[in-house]
Amino acid sequence: MIERTSVKSILEGECKEKRVTVYGWIRTARSGKNVAFASITDGSVSSGLQVVFDRDKFDDVSGLATGACIRVSGSIVDSPGAEQSREVNADELEIIGPVGEDYPLQKKKHSIEFLRSMPHLRARTNTFGAVFRMSHHLSLAIHRFFDENGFFFIHAPLITTSDAEGAGEAFQVTSMPLESITIKNGEVDYSMDYFKRQAFLTVSAQLEAEPLALAMGKVYTFGPTFRADPSDTRFHTAEFWMIEPEMAFFDLDDDISLIKDFIKFTARYLHEKCPEEISFFNRFYEKKLKERYSMLMESDFARITYTDAFELLKKNSGTFEVEPEWGSDISTEYERFLAEQHFGCPVFVTDYPAAIKPFYMRLNDDRRTVACTDLLFPQVGEIVGGSQREERLDVLSIRAKECGIDLDDYSWYFDLRKWGSAPHSGFGLGFERLLMYLTGMENIRDVIPFPRSKGKMI
Ligand code: 4AD
Ligand code: MG
Repeated sequence: MIERTSVKSILEGECKEKRVTVYGWIRTARSGKNVAFASITDGSVSSGLQVVFDRDKFDDVSGLATGACIRVSGSIVDSPGAEQSREVNADELEIIGPVGEDYPLQKKKHSIEFLRSMPHLRARTNTFGAVFRMSHHLSLAIHRFFDENGFFFIHAPLITTSDAEGAGEAFQVTSMPLESITIKNGEVDYSMDYFKRQAFLTVSAQLEAEPLALAMGKVYTFGPTFRADPSDTRFHTAEFWMIEPEMAFFDLDDDISLIKDFIKFTARYLHEKCPEEISFFNRFYEKKLKERYSMLMESDFARITYTDAFELLKKNSGTFEVEPEWGSDISTEYERFLAEQHFGCPVFVTDYPAAIKPFYMRLNDDRRTVACTDLLFPQVGEIVGGSQREERLDVLSIRAKECGIDLDDYSWYFDLRKWGSAPHSGFGLGFERLLMYLTGMENIRDVIPFPRSKGKMI
């Protein structure tokens, strides 16, 4: 067994022993005539642990190089430096994993783009260590919230037969070597394929969450989602995680109120668990990060219907690249106008035209809009998409036909409306987009350990 003390427990004063053994990687090192210093990290906490090497005891300190993995033993002492309260006076040093001069993260500061090119090393930096620690706490906050609110956690399949969102962005899954595919009467012959039919990686767990909600009341999924999204922006990736709660006996207002409570809970949770990381990001990346947390925790979110939002946009016509037109989607420039300029806070836009939304959203009495909401955040744009689901079999059938859905493929989905149908609602929240907002990172590739996006897979 490897006996060791974590940097976190030393710096936070949890460790009561005087003499400790620490394993970690060197962030910075410098040596003088009398003493050498190394700041080492083991990833447990943002700050590095300062280790002091008396040159009388340590003749050769050439192995103390940035990136090297070391073991040090020594005693914990109060630090005379202002940067930290405790440090370690070393009496033993072992260089476990040396580095050569070709170690790429030598400098104190590297650009975020440079670090993006080496995902296998970047978690060793202050920035990415902090991002991934916050990612951990956010995941736990999500489970905690739903557990405390009576939800059951459901594993949805990643391989499905449906393209739930109908956007044609699903990656196809096949066990057939592409060169052996046969075409019969202009169609691919799937008889030799693993499932003997066309299959996809899931774009949303919603359709599978619905049957569980209509049996268990309140459920949620939290898992990977895949989209061959044509948009290659700093907010899109091909592989991301979505949180998808689904609730029986919830209408759109209940849905919106749950979204709000959920987001406020996650902000409070991170605010409590990650003060050091938040201060770090506030100092180096997003000067208004702390304000973001206060706003999320304390203020209400705005709410506007799609139709009223377009009235508002039209009043400001001339300021947009594309003139706002009822019936079109809310593009990035409209999102920015609403969330950043007009409201200056997260805003729920509700009741979009049916024609631009998927078949499963509940048709409103005006018969041209649906009971749905997108939650738009300043700086990040759409974080959540949710809706009340169409529970009326006749209306759902008409909508499905209009959307070109093959009813045979979804017969089980229609069964739910045939037998014991119930009003229900749900939403999908993009984990990485929320994490971007809560860390201040501006590119979604910088909150995912190994990001996959269009044309890029490292
Ligand atoms: O709005 P979307 O497409 O909604 C659904 O898939 C619904 N079935 C959810 C539901 O009601 N259960 O996606 C939901 C959220 C978006 O608001 C966004 O935060 C995130 O998923 N998202 C992406 N995040 C990163 N990269 C992409 N390519 C994303 N596409 C969607
Ligand atoms: Mg959406």
